[in-house]
Amino acid sequence: MLPVIAACSGPQSALDPAGSQAAILATLWWWLAGGALLVWAGVMAVAWWVSRRRQPAGQPDDPPDAPAIMDPPPRAAHRLILVGGVLVPVVVLTALLGYGLWLMPQLRPALPGSALTVQVSGEQWWWRVRYPLPSGGTVELANEIRLPLGEPVAFELSSPDVIHSFWVPALGGKMDMIPGRSNRLVLQPTRAGRFRGACAEYCGTAHALMALDVVVLPPAKFQQWLQDQARPALPPQGALAERGARAFLAQGCGACHAVRGTPADGRMGPDLTHVGSRLSLAAGTLPADAEAFARFVGHAGTVKPGVRMPSFAMLQEDELAAIAAWLEQLQ
Ligand code: CUA
Repeated sequence: MLPVIAACSGPQSALDPAGSQAAILATLWWWLAGGALLVWAGVMAVAWWVSRRRQPAGQPDDPPDAPAIMDPPPRAAHRLILVGGVLVPVVVLTALLGYGLWLMPQLRPALPGSALTVQVSGEQWWWRVRYPLPSGGTVELANEIRLPLGEPVAFELSSPDVIHSFWVPALGGKMDMIPGRSNRLVLQPTRAGRFRGACAEYCGTAHALMALDVVVLPPAKFQQWLQDQARPALPPQGALAERGARAFLAQGCGACHAVRGTPADGRMGPDLTHVGSRLSLAAGTLPADAEAFARFVGHAGTVKPGVRMPSFAMLQEDELAAIAAWLEQLQ
């Protein structure tokens, strides 16, 4: 078991909790695992004991001088079945159920009205993330969530078309995103760092390419980040990026994507206002650098099969490079 347990840390492990809710679930998991181990050891002990008993006399493979050993008296056998088959499972399972029910209210704590709310919508196949600002207005981004360390956060989870499941194992349990309703999940990070989330419900072709970066920051740094995200995009710097910005608009990218501060105001695809500052591209499929931007714009369907975005394979290499240079500048 040691090599197995040694592999349980990392950015996407429910057994390496970085949040209050994940810690509760990890504790429950260890109790369940411990209980299962005890029961397994008991069954193995009985099996070992039985295998050590010799066959009753008269069996063909018995040596002729082996002393005959009687079967256990029927009452003892009945008692073993009653205790091992009825009493122990009822007691063990009832205790674990009671413990699980007792933990549940702590997974759904009441939140103060001032608590940070993050709206996450499961799209095919990426995550639309919205931060409603106290001053009014909304910051929208995609496939990346940043959270202030130590503060409880309310997630409002929804989906426009199919069911997804939002899961950041290091922070807490998963919850379904169901079309037509808003599910609420509370997470409270207890450790700063970068974690990985994933879609935990099969939702179509690119379900396995629907990851999410979650970064937990000290509260002051988080506020700074949110302010930066609320700003419109910077104007392009340099001839290449300027050409890229023009090509982006000329190719009609702005019909699906918004870049705040430019005429691009599409609502269907991810908001790209600060796409260059993100930790990954295409929901965790590629790194967010110029090479990856060019590859994704030119060959979206190859990088991410099933993606709704068409591949702009007709663009020249230098045009792709210009668009990529501009996108990378959108810090
Ligand atoms: Cu979204 Cu699976």
